[in-house]
Amino acid sequence: MIPMDFYRGRRLRTSAAMRELVREHAVTANDLIMLYFVIDTEDENFKKEIPSMPGQYQLSLKQLELKVAEAVDNGLKALMLFGIPASKDELGSGAYDDDGIIQKATRRLKARWPELIVMADTCLCEYTSHGHCGMVQNQCVLNDPTLNLLARTAVSQARAGADVIAPSDMMDGRVAAIRQALDDEGFTDVPIMSYAVKYASAFYGPFRQAAEGAPKFGDRKTYQMDPPNAREAMREAAADLEEGADILMVKPGQPYLDIVRLVRDNFDTPVAAYQVSGEYAMIKAAALNGWIDEQAVVMESLVGFKRAGADLILSYFTEDVLKVLK
Ligand code: PBG
Repeated sequence: MIPMDFYRGRRLRTSAAMRELVREHAVTANDLIMLYFVIDTEDENFKKEIPSMPGQYQLSLKQLELKVAEAVDNGLKALMLFGIPASKDELGSGAYDDDGIIQKATRRLKARWPELIVMADTCLCEYTSHGHCGMVQNQCVLNDPTLNLLARTAVSQARAGADVIAPSDMMDGRVAAIRQALDDEGFTDVPIMSYAVKYASAFYGPFRQAAEGAPKFGDRKTYQMDPPNAREAMREAAADLEEGADILMVKPGQPYLDIVRLVRDNFDTPVAAYQVSGEYAMIKAAALNGWIDEQAVVMESLVGFKRAGADLILSYFTEDVLKVLK
């Protein structure tokens, strides 16, 4: 005899409508942030595919505007910009130049789409000749002297119209320094989304090709977090919150869903998860080989972020997903 008192989970899976009725999480256009690489070039038709990120490009200002126009038509609400300057130097001056590439791109996008949320990645590595996220002396990345440069970068980005400042450098004290500088310049209402919990990850490989920001010597392990650590993530998040962060980000995403959940459970602030370049590259590579169903895998990976507790998701798949959601 079959016992009649067992659990029948299948009852609520009998049809698509039934499954949708009891569904716990969903990804919507309101959660998604697209990422763009904009390059400072005279050639307004410049649009170069990133070899390790099929479907993603380095874009001139004009090509960026064309791409964003299409995405906005599909429901894009927010984006984040990464800049590739025309030239680099020791101190990454292109990052805090009022006429720098991020500043120009931000002004251009905000002029056409005042409602669009434009976030600025605040870091120096794409702008420094050595490729590190801070000031370098004797092969060391200096913490405190870097803070002023980051603060200047944030203020310059806010002045250009950036809606959100997103420091990704992992220097200690940078959120406090940036908050103070923004407030001093009257940008009290510009929020900071800190890359609070950012690991020294091999999953950033394709990004460094895309943004041309790989370190020329050494690695980022003296400032980005050690992947095996979870408790330390709580200290990083608490520090950034204390210093004035409005949104806490965890990065990378999928290999760190446990950290997304920990941050969600320990803090009341909005939490963002970043599906990074290596995660994108892996899904794309498998899909291009016909080994996985790209759209299904992408939707599953994104709803995983929501299930883990993320409110916002930064993903290179955003443009594609908007089309699906539409
Ligand atoms: C800049 C920065 C990086 C990423 C975002 N901002 C690279 C790094 O820290 O080396 C990585 C994003 C990605 O891999 O998609 N500091």
